[in-house]
Amino acid sequence: MASLDDAGVYKLTEDMAIIQTIDFFTPIVDEPYAFGQIAAANALSDVYAMGGKPLTAMNVVCFPAKSLDISVLEDILRGGLDKMREAGVTLVGGHSIDDTELKYGLSVTGTVHPKRLVTNSGAKVGDKLVLTKPLGTGIISTALKAGMVNEETAAKVTKSMATLNNQASELMQEVGVHACTDITGFGLLGHACQIAENSQVGIKIHFASVPFFPKAEEFAKMGLCPTGLHRNREFYSEMVEIDPQVPEYVQDVLFDAQTSGGLLISLAPRAAQRLRDRLHEVGVPDATIIGEVTSRPTPRVLVE
Ligand code: CO
Ligand code: CO
Ligand code: CO
Repeated sequence: MASLDDAGVYKLTEDMAIIQTIDFFTPIVDEPYAFGQIAAANALSDVYAMGGKPLTAMNVVCFPAKSLDISVLEDILRGGLDKMREAGVTLVGGHSIDDTELKYGLSVTGTVHPKRLVTNSGAKVGDKLVLTKPLGTGIISTALKAGMVNEETAAKVTKSMATLNNQASELMQEVGVHACTDITGFGLLGHACQIAENSQVGIKIHFASVPFFPKAEEFAKMGLCPTGLHRNREFYSEMVEIDPQVPEYVQDVLFDAQTSGGLLISLAPRAAQRLRDRLHEVGVPDATIIGEVTSRPTPRVLVE
């Protein structure tokens, strides 16, 4: 049914489609339990981005049994399981192999009514765009590895990455949504380009409204620039036009590759305001309207 989207979709019957996705990666935080939570939240996110409800999951594990204590793996799996429980997801199995580098994630299956499927190709001219989590996790994770991040910031960013996108997903369905994707490796601008291209529209982003971690700004100003960010800038620059007034460090944050980022949701203006207000009520305080959908297709994404 859907192509080039967050997950694979297969229509089973007139009222049910299954959504399938898999995601796993190497640790981005030091603490195994937190890594497990983040990897699980990240894998579940693609089902939420498509407006679905995740039902079952399988663990995907690559573990260096010779160099790491098995208790590390136990903590990772406990973190993952706690997130699955929070999501109401049943763990039905998994597979592990010995590998030199630790990796963990999930293969997830969810369901959605075929008519309620949310893709990245339905954005309409005049829509507003809501982003539900702050940006900058790639920059901060890189700083974390270099030992430059204090405990408070590490805890804040970890909590954000471990937060499920379930509420945003349920509420966007409630208020009426046109298109959605989750912000991950391609950064805000990369994922915005994908929505714009697949929907055959343009997107305008107001940089001053985009929520990001203050520390990301600080590190970006210091010139800390992860490879993912570089890659995104190189790949998507042609489709993006950035007003010269936008500071260099803000451009960095907009291209920064995210782990388990928020949802980017395209919906009618009234629905966008309702969604933002409802998200604030249920405890998603960073949900912000950051831009709109335009009829101008070149550049795909304009930042001003
Ligand atoms: Co995705
Ligand atoms: Co994914
Ligand atoms: Co097996």
